[in-house]
Amino acid sequence: MCGIVGYVGPKSTLEVLLGGLRRLEYRGYDSAGVSVIAPGGHLETRKKAGKLDNLIAEIQANPLEQAHIGIGHTRWATHGAPTDGNAHPHLGGPESKLSLIHNGIIENFAELKAELLAEGTRFASQTDSEVAAHLIAREFAKVGDLPTAFAKVVNRLHGAFTILVIHEEQPDVVLAARRNAPLVIGLGDGENFLGSDVAAFVEHTKRAISVGQDEIVILRADSVEVRTFNGEVVHPDEFTVDWDASAASKGGWSSFMAKEIADQPQAVADTLMGRLESDGSVKLDEMDGLSIADIGAIDRIVMVACGTASYACDVAKYAIEKFARIPVQVELSHEFRYRDPIVTPNTLIVAVSQSGETMDTLMATRFAKEQGAKVLSICNTQGATLARESDAVIYTHAGPEVAVASTKALTAQITAGMLLALWLANGRAAAGRATIPAAELQRLGLELLKVPAKVSEVLDGLDLARKLGKDMANAKSVLFLGRNVGFPIAMEGALKLKELAYIHAEGFAAGELKHGPIALIEEGQPVIVIVPSLRDEESLHPKVISNIQEIKARGARVIAVAEEGDHQVADYAEHVIFVPQTENIFSPILTVIPLQAFALELSTAKGLDVDQPRNLAKSVTVE
Ligand code: M6R
Repeated sequence: MCGIVGYVGPKSTLEVLLGGLRRLEYRGYDSAGVSVIAPGGHLETRKKAGKLDNLIAEIQANPLEQAHIGIGHTRWATHGAPTDGNAHPHLGGPESKLSLIHNGIIENFAELKAELLAEGTRFASQTDSEVAAHLIAREFAKVGDLPTAFAKVVNRLHGAFTILVIHEEQPDVVLAARRNAPLVIGLGDGENFLGSDVAAFVEHTKRAISVGQDEIVILRADSVEVRTFNGEVVHPDEFTVDWDASAASKGGWSSFMAKEIADQPQAVADTLMGRLESDGSVKLDEMDGLSIADIGAIDRIVMVACGTASYACDVAKYAIEKFARIPVQVELSHEFRYRDPIVTPNTLIVAVSQSGETMDTLMATRFAKEQGAKVLSICNTQGATLARESDAVIYTHAGPEVAVASTKALTAQITAGMLLALWLANGRAAAGRATIPAAELQRLGLELLKVPAKVSEVLDGLDLARKLGKDMANAKSVLFLGRNVGFPIAMEGALKLKELAYIHAEGFAAGELKHGPIALIEEGQPVIVIVPSLRDEESLHPKVISNIQEIKARGARVIAVAEEGDHQVADYAEHVIFVPQTENIFSPILTVIPLQAFALELSTAKGLDVDQPRNLAKSVTVE
């Protein structure tokens, strides 16, 4: 899960590479490096352990020559510790004329390395990637043509990889190969780009091509050729990136996460735009790959995702079962894939992923497709592998999410899940199996349309959540409780604290409390409770109030997140963070926001890096 960028063209290559790496740094930040071919035809490389700023300092100390071709890498270490030596690029051949960057894992590197060692090759790093650099350099020395040598070697590699290569003796071309790891081409005018995702080059061009599985790219300033690993020329479709370049910069905010929390009214509104008519009816044109007949035949939905995206699935499950009466099973992608699950052609797989590159989710969907199931994805990144491999895609229009901790992607995913639930209910009705009166569906649609404005109201009222976050900087543990759609939000609140503040945090179903977790409660234990609406038809509110009383009686410090007008909760909780009233089923889009702000403040108060928490990368592109 590293970030890669490549460029060939008239601009300052270093600026293009460093700009791209800055926007890809979320993919990994253990070390970074660049190689360029200077006008004299020699390769120059700088690399440094640590964040991108360390590399920039190194380049300031040892400047690079102006160049018009180069590659750059930001690393999340797999093979080999995050040291200067293990940072990419890696040089290949006895004269180090080739430079290579790699994202992924070369599974058969040990046997390939043994082959090279037997010939006397000297290695400068402990990485699997350096093996590929030496193999390509060796092959090039034999055949004299870089694309030929490159194709021959990538065919020998097993595992997951995106590899970019430049060579002193063919200084006008960047070669790239993709297997099970992302790669996108950016098309310019007299210049071309490569990136792990479009964020790498969106500042320069919005014209892009997504590279397919087992394909090679031969990139020059004035031409782009794509071939399969077997040498057949392919003509992939071009698409236009709808991300705004400025959306991938902090724009005056203290962190990307702070900015992305603030982006949420727009992210939710944009995800609804064009899909929810002003009369509340749902229109999902992108579902062309799935017919009404397909919908009618679905007897079960399995939602697969990881981390925060899996909580979006948990929320969507309530809505789909309630509105469309289709049984929904939510599965962590990695658990689903490797337990021989039951999937039939009447199962609809809904895969949810911000990046669309999470390997666990890709493997789960590939497995399901092999069993004959249709795959619908909810994805935020155009051209992503998941989107390419799905029968239909609902794009969340959250814009680029750079902070490792997911915020606006989640609220956009929940929004897309609500649209899907309403659309499925409509589809059921059209197939003669109505599950809910048409007028009620329309009413729900109209309520959903009001949610973006309510998200703005939540953002205007975050002072208390922020203050509590600061005050609790020394907390050793925070628990979260929720019920119904509040349960996944409790889990998400806990995940945000774990990943950002490195403290023990757990989310529980409030009803589960008495079955064990209540033993954790002692004097002063902070517990954040997501309180359901007083108006909800399932009468969950009194049950959660009882839960609050139970933990209060045992010394818990209770902070409630409740809807405006809930005057009862104030009698029991030490603090109440109010959010606007909405349908209970839509409430997660609102109640999660104070939890995001709480975690952000607590982490900041501890002096931690909220955008790049330790040990994490944004896209987990290995299993
Ligand atoms: O790109 P994806 O949505 O597939 O990523 C899934 C998870 O890795 C991601 O949501 C992760 O849990 C976030 N860092 C949580 O904030």
